[in-house]
Amino acid sequence: MSINVLFTSAEAAPFAKVGGMADVVGSLPTALRRLGVDARVIIPYYGFIDAEKYHIEPAFSFEFTRRTGTTDVYVFKTVYDGIPFYLVRGWPFFGDDRTTYTTWDWDVPRFLFFNQVAMAVAWELRGREAWFPDVFHVNDWHTGLVPFLLNESRNDPVWANVASVLSIHNLAYQGDHVGGWLWELGIPGRNHPDLVYRGLSDNLLATAIVYSDIVSTVSPRYATEIQYPYMGYGLDGLIRTRINDLHGILNGLDTELWNPETDPLLVSNYNIENFAEKRLPNKRQLQLDAGLEVRDNIPVIGIVSRLVEQKGFDLALPALRLLLADSEVQLIALGSGDPKLDYEFWRLGKDFWWKAKVYQGYNAAIAQRIYAGSDIFLMPSHYEPCGIGQMIAMRYGSLPLVRETGGLADTVENYDNGLADQGTGFVFQWEQPSAVLGTLRWTLSTYANQPKAWQRMQKRAMEVDLSWDKSAQKYIDIYQKAIFKRRGEFAK
Ligand code: GLC
Repeated sequence: MSINVLFTSAEAAPFAKVGGMADVVGSLPTALRRLGVDARVIIPYYGFIDAEKYHIEPAFSFEFTRRTGTTDVYVFKTVYDGIPFYLVRGWPFFGDDRTTYTTWDWDVPRFLFFNQVAMAVAWELRGREAWFPDVFHVNDWHTGLVPFLLNESRNDPVWANVASVLSIHNLAYQGDHVGGWLWELGIPGRNHPDLVYRGLSDNLLATAIVYSDIVSTVSPRYATEIQYPYMGYGLDGLIRTRINDLHGILNGLDTELWNPETDPLLVSNYNIENFAEKRLPNKRQLQLDAGLEVRDNIPVIGIVSRLVEQKGFDLALPALRLLLADSEVQLIALGSGDPKLDYEFWRLGKDFWWKAKVYQGYNAAIAQRIYAGSDIFLMPSHYEPCGIGQMIAMRYGSLPLVRETGGLADTVENYDNGLADQGTGFVFQWEQPSAVLGTLRWTLSTYANQPKAWQRMQKRAMEVDLSWDKSAQKYIDIYQKAIFKRRGEFAK
């Protein structure tokens, strides 16, 4: 069976990455291709993307006319990891950007333009490369207008059967109040009753939820959570109108990229058989680089995260402060984001300089070394649609300590210190610093008193199949379902 899928996204690793969505758009198409799907990706060609490094070449250009003017659109192309990537440039929306996202006022017209252009590029590909999508796979609000534009084009036989699948990576970011811009760009009113009734016609994610043939989110647990007000960010009612078409599919990991056996950034590579000895040099190096005491039996807590409200560090910081004050433990954190959290982490590192190191910003080498050298990986998120850090940590033998939510709940099994001897990490539930503290203390006592059980748990964590294989098949199933809804038959 051959299905043509065009991914539309604001981010794709390795070209442009802010969050986990980029990793998904950068790795799922490869997994799909292995199963026979012709998956391609279109993203904006931001000014900071390195053309030489990624062998990006001009492909074609065309004129695109909007209500407010005509733009010359330049389409570039590269084949990366077997996947064709189309990168679009068009003044003044995309071209000299230094960052993926800019300001809200400016991002709205930029991405609206990108949605229109994604459709136009598909049209061009039909003539130029004899390729046309069966399915548009759109991601988050940035490309949420595509399902609506498809719906507007149903009278044209070329577009009539093109299906759409929306993946929600984060319901909290919705692209709302975009109405004025939609009008300026000549985009007709979104008059779907489910939107109008809820006052959501100017919300791009809501628009995508209503007009997509299938809606998916990035873990089964998150698919359930967003049906309720406490996690619905105002869209739970709308989500409930789509429960027959709602699927939770767990993200996978690019297990070739994230592999402690081959990772060139580690000082000592290891695998499931030899990690008990071979992992240790990474811990020593991590402690050394961080300027902390180099000692094997002191537990190291690692953090690699965007420092934003979602991630739950408001719960963890008070707990870490108390723990650092009275326990034998080290903390090594890497991240940045919200200035207030940046400051509080910096402060923590300063107050406990001999046992805590805080790296600001993002650095792939430090990140990988934290995964490989820490004993515990902390991810206390308030909500987490899927989460990638805990999966990498498991693969690298650092036991995750997570809150029971979204993809964290679906990937980390709580340690059972009874007869069962099971689990791949430590899980808490209540959104309170005391819950983080209590669980951290339990984790530290397990580390100190049950080294054999700890090692067995590491082995189990490293063994979990986190690859894309199973999930990619599930995406094919929903593509088929979306195509069936449009055509009354499956793709052949
Ligand atoms: C968003 C979510 C994260 C998820 C990622 C990829 O960044 O916050 O939980 O893993 O998207 O789907």
